[in-house]
Amino acid sequence: MRIERSIREMAIWAEKMQRFGKVVGLLPTMGALHGGHLSLMKLLEDRCDIRVASILVNPLQFGENEDLDKYPRNEESDIQKLEAQGCDVVFIPSPERMFTDNFSTFIDEDTLSNGLCGKYRPTHFRGVTTIVNMLFNLTKCNVAAFGLKDFQQGVVIRRMIENLFMHVNLVFGDTVREVDGVAMSSRNTLLTSTQRKAATTIPASLNWARDQALNSVEQASEIIHGVEAMLTNDNEIKVQYIEIVDPLTLAPVEYITTKAQLMIAVHCGSTRLIDNIEIGMNSQSKQLIMV
Ligand code: PAJ
Repeated sequence: MRIERSIREMAIWAEKMQRFGKVVGLLPTMGALHGGHLSLMKLLEDRCDIRVASILVNPLQFGENEDLDKYPRNEESDIQKLEAQGCDVVFIPSPERMFTDNFSTFIDEDTLSNGLCGKYRPTHFRGVTTIVNMLFNLTKCNVAAFGLKDFQQGVVIRRMIENLFMHVNLVFGDTVREVDGVAMSSRNTLLTSTQRKAATTIPASLNWARDQALNSVEQASEIIHGVEAMLTNDNEIKVQYIEIVDPLTLAPVEYITTKAQLMIAVHCGSTRLIDNIEIGMNSQSKQLIMV
């Protein structure tokens, strides 16, 4: 596996691959890799000739009082994990080289980014779309993988590609969970053992909501109140938002007629966790437990 830290060398390599007609797949990450990231690496396997993973804790997507400094970093073990997955290139640019002193250009999706997480993290998605665009340009990828764990992020990136006529096919991977149902996240390592235990209330409340919708509870507010009651019952958890939205437009829905997406963000101590689930008549009834 090639470890590439140079932006220039990455670009030269990518151009060469393009000339050879290779299909390049990209998995953009912020490192501290877990089974969720690795499942996306696997998803790319059959879809491209060469797989590139990028590791960069992107300062642009963190707000002023957020956890940029304490975001987990584990480069050595990340490299080992990617190598074991058969990754061809890991691109690890330094933030200083990516964001030079004269950096002043942003990609800003202006509708889907505004609600849900965007309401509480106003510059977050601008940071995500900008870095993802830079990584697409540098790697000249034809395919890129994203996880449904970050549902809003996926919808925003899809809109960016559509609006800007970008030549990248997206593949989305299901949320990978720990055995107790908690969604894998690099931030889980920041939780104390009490907080980690409390975090199981999140998938439990999502499962409950899905069952309610399957049992023909149609009113979104009824389900939201139930989820809120379950989450606030635990002292370790502070709810930031619970919303049921249309999966394409992310607009709140009042009645769950076909499919809808339940989206939640909570603080567990000082760690912010997000999760989501598809609910509605056609959604699968499987429980959020990884076996
Ligand atoms: P990061 O949080 O490292 O996630 C990288 C990719 O892994 C994202 O597409 C995310 O949705 C996916 N992912 C995370 N947890 C997952 C899980 N439990 N199951 C399945 N997929 C999961 O998302 C980012 O980084 C950044 O915003 C990035 C896109 C790299 C831009 O900086």
